[in-house]
Amino acid sequence: MVAAGGYLARMTSTPIDLGRPVSGDVVELILDDHRRFETLLRDLRDSSSDRDAVRRALATLHTAHAIAEETHVYPKLERKDAISQEEAEHGEHEHAEGHEALLAVLELKGTDTDAFDDAVEELAKVLNHHLTEEELTILNPARDEVGERVRAQLGEAFATERNRQIDEGCGSAEQIRELVARARRKGLLDEDQDDE
Ligand SMILES: [Fe+2]
Ligand SMILES: [Fe+2]
Repeated sequence: MVAAGGYLARMTSTPIDLGRPVSGDVVELILDDHRRFETLLRDLRDSSSDRDAVRRALATLHTAHAIAEETHVYPKLERKDAISQEEAEHGEHEHAEGHEALLAVLELKGTDTDAFDDAVEELAKVLNHHLTEEELTILNPARDEVGERVRAQLGEAFATERNRQIDEGCGSAEQIRELVARARRKGLLDEDQDDE
């Protein structure tokens, strides 16, 4: 079943392997994805790679990862008093910025233009900022203040949601456009949202 699902996801959404963890410490699973984001960003900058495939893989992984964090990880860490409501909302704000920057990359026709390079530069800025901040202000408290058993339970919930999203072909331009519109309605993309 697992192999079939992974195969299906690779065939329908992206030919690039996004991994398929099913369990583990949630902090480690999130960090593994963060390293995948960094590899995909590096490949997106490289004009010799299949940039269209890379941008679709990045869109799929970012969407699945952000939804899984917002659905399972942030609420649980908030209930455990590991992070504040403001920190969770700030994370959602940065995910929304990531969706917006990814949409700009996805919507460009060519991948060999100055406009594409500019959009990739903005995406890298937004995404690298979020990875750094999340690791410092969300994953460190999760390590320090949440027990191993809960981190394992959360890891399974995170992985299951992430894989389900990938299997359902998340990360299309239409879906990301809808995520951006929803974030805007919730005020998550307002100018006064602090980016520090
Ligand atoms: Fe993350
Ligand atoms: Fe995140």
